Amino acid sequence: EKGTYPHFMLKEIDEQPPVIRRIIQEYQDDHDNIKLDPEVRQAMRDTDRVYIIAAGTSYHAGLVGKQFMEKLANVPVEVHIASEFSYNMPLLSEKPLFVFISQSGETADSRSVLVRIKELGHPALTITNVPGSTLSREANYTLHLHAGPEIAVASTKAYTAQIAVLAILAVDTAKAKGLDLDFDPLQELGIVASVMESLTDQKDEFEMLAKELFAETRNAFFIGRGMDYYVVQEAALKLKEISYIQAEGFAGGELKHGTIALIEDGTPVIAINTQANVNLSIRGNVQEVAARGAKTCVVSLEGLEKDTDSFVVPQVHELLTPLVSVVPMQLLAYYAALHRDCDVDKPRNLAKSVTVE
Ligand code: M6R
Repeated sequence: EKGTYPHFMLKEIDEQPPVIRRIIQEYQDDHDNIKLDPEVRQAMRDTDRVYIIAAGTSYHAGLVGKQFMEKLANVPVEVHIASEFSYNMPLLSEKPLFVFISQSGETADSRSVLVRIKELGHPALTITNVPGSTLSREANYTLHLHAGPEIAVASTKAYTAQIAVLAILAVDTAKAKGLDLDFDPLQELGIVASVMESLTDQKDEFEMLAKELFAETRNAFFIGRGMDYYVVQEAALKLKEISYIQAEGFAGGELKHGTIALIEDGTPVIAINTQANVNLSIRGNVQEVAARGAKTCVVSLEGLEKDTDSFVVPQVHELLTPLVSVVPMQLLAYYAALHRDCDVDKPRNLAKSVTVE
């Protein structure tokens, strides 16, 4: 039930801190170590390459998950859009492990890949919010997101739950492989939950920003580099699916290869800036679009901010920034849709779970 909330989406955005805390609890043993199904641990240890299969927002979480698994656990990862995979199957490694990421566990595009790879005899792990779902039942292993029912068509708490579980899985794999890590995901996720709370407490700010940026526009661009590039793709999907504003997320460096031609007077360009190693380059991109008339908005991580930035997100571990930088994006999309009188929870032409291919 929505309770006092006007929309499920807003309620689910607010539920993100408690969901992250629940994940910490569920994946922690009595000695504050990671608790994980030993069979999943073994499967992650045995594989020579992980193939992540997902759609929409879950695909965007997969892009972040790849960074965790490669950077922390030294496991090579490919991330594939489910609907493309079956027709465009890549050459597989010798010991592939398929990881299906799906809030609903019912996405038909993902299921058809699962059926196919089972025929080939490969193991599958499903990461889902619905443990009894088709993708969960038909895979060899399941990890549960513990996010509680997600009702709004626009996925919010499932995305952050997926990223949190992927971080835990990557660190667990690293430990199982005997790698030395200076990163305790359970502790760092605790910090993330508090930061998320401070963001959801500032809704008025995002409502004002959304009015400034999106009240009249027909299109909007999001830019980022590195980790932030994955989050801007999710930001654009969120905005377009509920506000019907045409939106795209671009890698900052790609602007000059074409997209910058679209910038006109007043075009909103939102930049996410959480990665120290690309701070200067993304700021350069913001200047380039501002010089061509764009209405710019920079959301920075604390420590990288400038006075002119629209919003500063308190610091979290730099691998976990997507968990916090996405919250302002979700709220911007929500208020954009609200002020354009769109049906926030049930956008036109969309279903919560897409059970047709
Ligand atoms: O249930 P799933 O995670 O498999 O769903 C995948 C996509 O259909 C879903 O994420 C969709 O993109 C959302 N509406 C995005 O907000």
